[in-house]
Amino acid sequence: MLLPALPGHPHFSYQGNALFAEAVRVSELAATYGTPLFIYSKAAMLSALAAYQRGFEGRDAQICYAMKANSSLAVLQVFARADCGFDIVSGGELERVQAAGGDVGKVIFSGVGKTQAEMRQALAAGIGCFNVESEAELDVLSGVALAMGMRAPVSIRVNPNVDPKTHPYISTGLKGNKFGVAHEDAVRIYRHAASLDGLKVVGIDCHIGSQITEVTPYLDAMDRVLDLVAAIEDAGIALAHIDFGGGLGIDYNHDTPPEADALWRQLLAKLDARGYGGRKLMIEPGRSLVGNAGVCITEVLYLKPGEQKNFCIIDAAMNDLPRPAMYQAFHAIVPVEPRVPQAETLVYDVVGPVCESGDWIGRDRALNVAAGDQLAVMSAGAYCMSMASNYNTRGRAAELLVDGDVARLIRARESAADTFRGELLLP
Ligand code: LLP
Repeated sequence: MLLPALPGHPHFSYQGNALFAEAVRVSELAATYGTPLFIYSKAAMLSALAAYQRGFEGRDAQICYAMKANSSLAVLQVFARADCGFDIVSGGELERVQAAGGDVGKVIFSGVGKTQAEMRQALAAGIGCFNVESEAELDVLSGVALAMGMRAPVSIRVNPNVDPKTHPYISTGLKGNKFGVAHEDAVRIYRHAASLDGLKVVGIDCHIGSQITEVTPYLDAMDRVLDLVAAIEDAGIALAHIDFGGGLGIDYNHDTPPEADALWRQLLAKLDARGYGGRKLMIEPGRSLVGNAGVCITEVLYLKPGEQKNFCIIDAAMNDLPRPAMYQAFHAIVPVEPRVPQAETLVYDVVGPVCESGDWIGRDRALNVAAGDQLAVMSAGAYCMSMASNYNTRGRAAELLVDGDVARLIRARESAADTFRGELLLP
């Protein structure tokens, strides 16, 4: 039988006729824990991280995992134990880092709308750096720090105005995005930052978008940022580190992003050529560390053939896997144990039970399935569970972390009662 290829997922494989996560048979996990079920491979996370570590060998570099991609505590533990810092975007994410035993000194705090309470929380915790996204935020942060008798370490996110050539909702480095400060204004805003008593300028930051599959936008952004570093330092403001953000894409559907080490070979060559090779570097990768380390296992509930479309209705939905509904994103969908003998192969729209036409997970997929079969939705490690909701009062799925032949439950399935805990009845 021809088994589906699993590009981008070296730690998931068919053995015989069965899908395995590392050395564990997926169907057995689904039988024990039920579906929908997220399964992550620890080795896949560590090997994605290793590609960055190889790329930075011999350099002064800090990898800050952008935990919005997948902020489950055990996932954070994997990266904390591998010496990563974290890129956070809320006080809640900071509490997660602390709960997972991460090094708060290696936390950088990004985001356009930090509240004063979040600033106080982060200063009290002793985070490494605030990535400030506007002039107004500089003033507020300085005031908050002064009131605490502190100086807040800051780097300013500059908008290099390069096109990352990705989906418009996940492009962030173009003029017209809400992120960062404009390239033309950067030197003036740095001067302002340096004049504020509650701040200590430590670096410069950029992030141009997500699911970037080409090297050129990174090279262009680096050139633009290094131009600014030169201008800012000419103005007498030293920058201890340069943060190049995250954004490296993964293979969802015959995508061909560079490997992290190959990307950084090219970027470091440029840094060296421009004389900044010895500078402390920071990066904020999210998706590329976890995206292809996870799958979502789901059961086929019903097949519903139709005149125009055949529907394959599964027990996972847009509340579990929001990316297709939000970005028309593609996730490969493969059988967990391809059926023998084969049923009829038909072309289906794979949809969830949520009452919305936007609740689709895959369109026009050729599948050989029957009700009761399990399917694996691939590339589900990033921006799936972390964006999951309780829409339609659906409890969020369970999560497992596989390490070799051991599978550990890292998040229990939410019950209906869990979903309305905190709500109050009228008297
Ligand atoms: N740094 C900053 C400031 C960011 O805003 C992001 C992602 C990252 C780092 C990490 O980017 P990554 O390496 O994961 O591409 N929900 C969307 C993606 C949103 C990305 C938001 N910012 C999706 O599912 O495609």
